[in-house]
Amino acid sequence: MKIEDIKSIAVIGAGDMGHGIAEVALMAGYKVFLRDIKQEFVDKGVSRINQSLEKLVSKGKVEQGLFDRIRSELLVPCVELGDAVREADLVIEAVPEIMALKQETFGAMDKLAPAHTIFASNTSTMKITEIAAITKRPEKVIGLHYFNPAVLMKLVEVIRGEKSSAESMQIGYDFVLRNAKVPVRVEKDVAGFIVNRVQAPAGVLLNAILDEGKIQPEQIDAVMRSIGAPMGPYETMDYTGLDISYHGSLYFAKTIHPDFACGKVIQAKVEAGELGKKTGKGLFDWSNGRPEIDLSKATDQFDLMDLVVVNVNEATKIIAEGACKLEDIDLAIVNATGGMGPMALVKNIEPADMTKRLEGLAARWGKEIFKPTQMIKDGQYR
Ligand SMILES: NC(=O)c1ccc[n+]([C@@H]2O[C@H](COP(=O)([O-])OP(=O)(O)OC[C@H]3O[C@@H](n4cnc5c(N)ncnc54)[C@H](O)[C@@H]3O)[C@@H](O)[C@H]2O)c1
Repeated sequence: MKIEDIKSIAVIGAGDMGHGIAEVALMAGYKVFLRDIKQEFVDKGVSRINQSLEKLVSKGKVEQGLFDRIRSELLVPCVELGDAVREADLVIEAVPEIMALKQETFGAMDKLAPAHTIFASNTSTMKITEIAAITKRPEKVIGLHYFNPAVLMKLVEVIRGEKSSAESMQIGYDFVLRNAKVPVRVEKDVAGFIVNRVQAPAGVLLNAILDEGKIQPEQIDAVMRSIGAPMGPYETMDYTGLDISYHGSLYFAKTIHPDFACGKVIQAKVEAGELGKKTGKGLFDWSNGRPEIDLSKATDQFDLMDLVVVNVNEATKIIAEGACKLEDIDLAIVNATGGMGPMALVKNIEPADMTKRLEGLAARWGKEIFKPTQMIKDGQYR
């Protein structure tokens, strides 16, 4: 099968991610069957798509003619799974992040979809191999990991499960290109794939600083804001939701290394229901909108490059595992976040300095995961 054979798509789950993934495929002219478990959930997904498309039409980014076609024929809302997948050449699953639910969904789709249909999961963390194992077509199962909001963020990670075929990977890659997005291949389904995995150690360091309590979140965010970043790291944690950070920590601690365990401050916040922006309070107070960050509070006790070097160190681990190539790291992170890539930022730092810095951080914070890898010592990060 080739990309030209992919004509109809099914998106399973019409929530935050599903409706956005569907919208992107519709904008590329694909017929999209959008399924959720209740009519009201599908209707909500459809209305979110229509509202977003209306804005894009008014800005001249989508043609009125395409929007009319989307409403009259291209977008097909469904509640029955069979109705959604029966005609689909590619299915993208975006149901909640619960393995049993994903497996149940893939098992049912396997029986209802045509034999040629490729299945993709938008999971942020789970192993594609484990999801694929429930089907009789593991070679046709891949990961297509979009970023939130899917309409805006350019990156889609195209993930190979242990049994995914080269043909399925190629179709996934080409499909992402046809959706005007940037595909990056992840050749092994390592925990967190590229973007979430490479950025995780900075989260560990930020948690350690919080728990120590000597420097306050505002003091570090002020440093970041004073160099022109739109948001500091702690405000970003609040913005995304401290529960997301908490669950991510639990998963990484279990699957990669106990050092990824959630810090005490964040855990207490989550237990108190203070999840950040969505609850009005987290590390900052959001009751009157975005927190005011006083730039005069910027600390000189912390160097932002520490956040970068621990991430670069982690990047070398997944490169060594064969998940991706060095140049994919920045390509992925720049297109997922709109920020700068960590590899470009350390290009001029000598291996001996990187090594010393990471050894210092590992000792200072008691974190084995910060210890420099052989690739760092050998200068294989630039
Ligand atoms: N939100 C993010 O930032 C983000 C980013 C990348 C990937 N993801 C991943 O995308 C997936 C979906 O996350 P989300 O944020 O869109 O969640 P969400 O809760 O907003 O949406 C999930 C939708 O799936 C529906 N659903 C539940 N069971 C279903 C079933 N059996 N069939 C069809 N629909 C079903 C729910 O009713 C809901 O509308 C998860 O795997 C998540 O990890 C999320």
